Amino acid sequence: MNVFVTGHQGYIGAHLVDLLKKAGHRVTGCDLGLFDGCQWEPLTRPDKELIKDVRALELADVAGHDCVMHLAAISNDPMGELDQNITFSINRDASIRLAKLAKQAGVGRYLFSGSCSVYGAGKKLDLAEEDPLAPLTAYAKSKIETEVEVSKLADKSFTPVYLRNSTAYGHSPMLRIDLVVNNLLGSALSYGEIRIQSDGTPWRPLIHCKDIARAFVAFMDAPKEKVHNLAVNVGGNSENYQVKDVADNVKRLIPTAKVAFTGEVGADPRNYRVKFDLLNQVLPNFKLEYTLAKGMDELHRKMVDHKFSKADFEGPQFVRLRTLKTRMDRLSTTGTVA
Ligand SMILES: NC(=O)c1ccc[n+]([C@@H]2O[C@H](COP(=O)([O-])OP(=O)(O)OC[C@H]3O[C@@H](n4cnc5c(N)ncnc54)[C@H](O)[C@@H]3O)[C@@H](O)[C@H]2O)c1
Repeated sequence: MNVFVTGHQGYIGAHLVDLLKKAGHRVTGCDLGLFDGCQWEPLTRPDKELIKDVRALELADVAGHDCVMHLAAISNDPMGELDQNITFSINRDASIRLAKLAKQAGVGRYLFSGSCSVYGAGKKLDLAEEDPLAPLTAYAKSKIETEVEVSKLADKSFTPVYLRNSTAYGHSPMLRIDLVVNNLLGSALSYGEIRIQSDGTPWRPLIHCKDIARAFVAFMDAPKEKVHNLAVNVGGNSENYQVKDVADNVKRLIPTAKVAFTGEVGADPRNYRVKFDLLNQVLPNFKLEYTLAKGMDELHRKMVDHKFSKADFEGPQFVRLRTLKTRMDRLSTTGTVA
């Protein structure tokens, strides 16, 4: 198949291009290269690469593809707060516009990279897709507002699907340590301290970044009638963890590390445990390749091999917010949404 992947140079996109190429698909990647120079390991190149703002995409860019996988975004809560207008213009307006372009170009499937953060301050645990949403940030709002608008485009020739992904962790050639699991492992290796910013009690559904990429491929391959216009939580029922469980796993790998509660974020209002029954129902053959323990073993080995250091932990290479702060000009001047 001909697949159009946006955000292909990102933490998840790096795995996705590799998986698609290994499965024999032809891949066009579109990425603005916001994190150029941050690669940890070499990235698999797509067949065609557009170094371009998704807000400036045109019909001709998208035409001729069978599926759009849309991952490009200002991709977490703190980055989304740097400039909310930019966040909404990229994450929501450009995502809706890209869906319209895809439909107009006759692309049959549009897979949107959403997030379980739309559940925000969950009023109850074990949230399913139909439960009330409580987005707390511009990032989470942009994801849900996109779902609402793109769903209006669904028809017999256009199938959008909204992957509400769990919080990612684990090894990627484009490593990030601004995610809770990777961050705690990185702090233990760098300082001998597992620095927990909350009180350790918030629940999070966790998923290996490669399993998110595998889910995209599975949703592309799924029969249309199974997935048409569905929002689906992506993760595993047994992969909901409290932050203190993650700390226990770090201790298992680095027994000398001490647990420190820094209290930086006080009582974290983002608390959600999520159900994945719908995913199991619509994609019965899709199984996660990783548990948290397996993914942490792998990342720990990789960090040791790469001699992950205090300088790595404190520098901009693996923390998107630090890099983006110095590159915001690339976003305010490029592309306007029609
Ligand atoms: N990592 C997670 O925990 C997680 C969880 C749920 C959902 N998601 C979503 O999955 C997607 C990918 O996440 P990620 O962790 O790989 O993010 P990432 O930040 O590592 O990658 C995003 C990529 O998009 C590109 N990009 C950003 N704005 C762009 C623009 N205007 N035009 C073109 N390219 C642009 C960046 O250069 C980057 O390479 C995002 O939509 C994110 O919101 C991620």
